[in-house]
Amino acid sequence: MATHTFEKETEDLTRIYHPAPLATLRPDRGAHFDLFLGVPTRSGQRYVLYKSADIDLTDDKRKELIERGVQFLYVTDDDAGSYFNFVDRTVGEALQDESASPEQRSQVLYQTTKALVQATFTRPESPVLMKTNRSLVEHTVEALAAEPGLLRALASEFSMDYSLYTHAVHVSTLATALMLEINGPDTSVKDAAMGFLLHDIGKCRVPTQILRKSGILTTTEMKEVEKHPEYGVALMRPHIEVGDVALDIIHSHHEKLNGRGYPRRLPPERISLETRICSLVDIYDALTSHRVYKPAMHGFEALTYMREKMYDELDPGLLKQLIKILGPRDR
Ligand SMILES: [Fe+2]
Ligand SMILES: [Fe+2]
Repeated sequence: MATHTFEKETEDLTRIYHPAPLATLRPDRGAHFDLFLGVPTRSGQRYVLYKSADIDLTDDKRKELIERGVQFLYVTDDDAGSYFNFVDRTVGEALQDESASPEQRSQVLYQTTKALVQATFTRPESPVLMKTNRSLVEHTVEALAAEPGLLRALASEFSMDYSLYTHAVHVSTLATALMLEINGPDTSVKDAAMGFLLHDIGKCRVPTQILRKSGILTTTEMKEVEKHPEYGVALMRPHIEVGDVALDIIHSHHEKLNGRGYPRRLPPERISLETRICSLVDIYDALTSHRVYKPAMHGFEALTYMREKMYDELDPGLLKQLIKILGPRDR
């Protein structure tokens, strides 16, 4: 364990670092893990030890970082378990902090979920990460149920630039809000929300060069991408936090109501409400995100496109409900 503190250079370039958004680092709550600062270099970023595990992050030091414009510190992969245990212990308190504005609470929720999803894509087998995913999803459901207006604040955090991680957070937020609108806050929303957040987790088994390819995919590459629902089920089945409803969402979120989806070309009666919600929001987020091969559509434009061009694939009743919760300012 390192014993230095406040900015010491590290030469170890082989370690994996996970972003720890400042919003997730509650001061004086026992942040007993090394934290690093990211320093931009010509080829990317190097990491400088900011504080060692034996020292807590004080409120003054945190404020100083905010004044310097620092939004992220980093933890090593070895410390990811300790960091996400800390997040698990403190995020509920941060979300219930009445002195914080809805914008500040949304930022905590958005940044924490994004960092957690990013780590989960690296270590989908980790029990600690899955336990934290479950508690974060439960906090999200409870926060959105108690304060529906929080969706507006959360949606304003949404990034137009697509990444697997931001996409997971957007889909989970919107699909949870839609399910709460339809079902009210019963426990099935929490079970489904695990599926919304982890619907694309199987993509961590698809080669990165295929996922990042900017041109048209070959048939073989397309077939590989289309395996992600099945990879996801295989990865998530061992976790008790991921129940049958969530596994069904992971398996079937690319099925279509016209029976032409994948991987099983299921007929509509075998596509659950929760899975239909996930598919709908998945498409909405894909259309409204900027990708290498296409610009982002405006929310209203995307909803119109979905209603006019995809009417045989999607549930029209759910589309109406989505339009309702997105409101006049759709994104
Ligand atoms: Fe997918
Ligand atoms: Fe997706």
